[in-house]
Amino acid sequence: MEIVTTRAALAEALAVRNGRPRGFVPTMGALHAGHISLVERARRENRVVVVSVFVNPTQFNDPGDLERYPRTPQEDIRLLDKAGTDIVFMPAPQEIYPEPDTRVFVLAGVSEVMEGATRPGHFNGVAQVVSRLFDLVRPDRAYFGEKDFQQVAVIRAMCRECGYGLDIVACPTVREDDGLAMSSRNTLLDPAHRAAAPAIYRAMDRAAQEVREALAKGSSLSVAEVERRVTEEINSEQLLEVIYFRLVNAHTLAPARSWDEEGGVQGCVAVQAGTVRLIDNLRFI
Ligand code: PAF
Repeated sequence: MEIVTTRAALAEALAVRNGRPRGFVPTMGALHAGHISLVERARRENRVVVVSVFVNPTQFNDPGDLERYPRTPQEDIRLLDKAGTDIVFMPAPQEIYPEPDTRVFVLAGVSEVMEGATRPGHFNGVAQVVSRLFDLVRPDRAYFGEKDFQQVAVIRAMCRECGYGLDIVACPTVREDDGLAMSSRNTLLDPAHRAAAPAIYRAMDRAAQEVREALAKGSSLSVAEVERRVTEEINSEQLLEVIYFRLVNAHTLAPARSWDEEGGVQGCVAVQAGTVRLIDNLRFI
């Protein structure tokens, strides 16, 4: 495995390993089993696997959040080597942004709801860095976790907007045994908040089962009622506070009006757990 830190060294490493298809996994490091499942899939499906580890400042709307974001570069390198990565790109910010990135992406409306509404500028920053990384790595396929469900929709929209022809591969969320979605931010939870956090998935999972059972019996719960129940159930955990829970059309991310949405209905949630913001999502229908 080759570790490179500059654009020039990345270009050289790519020229040496010129095989196609080339799979790419962009990350912000502090890697866990969810990231590694993306790298392993990229390994199975491509001749060359490139992983970036870069904590992108332009997607943090809160400077404290950027400062607190976990960084474990040596452990990341060990895990990536074991997973069969060919090239790891670990740039400093000035390699990615030699001058400030002033581009504003339109992103077809999928960036304005949920995370977009509660973290202004976040998705524009994600689009900026991912497009820069795509330009440098020129992958045939890029792998993202469905845990960041809205991010995947934003990246697909950015690819359409910029005319990138690569495949965006969305991979299933990896969960801890108690259901908590794996996230680099989980390491920032103190023990009490960590113990409370599985209630997020539990509430969504229970509600999704209730909806499916009701529909199978020919009765139905309203979308608004389910949104209310899930929000209340998570909020009943003293240490958790729901920022939003929305049932949305899984393709457009517009609010679901019924359970018959074309493309399915996805539950998406953001929760404040002390100083840590957690997100998760689940297919309802
Ligand atoms: O999902 C992440 O870790 C980041 O948002 C990404 C896609 C690597 C861009 O910085």
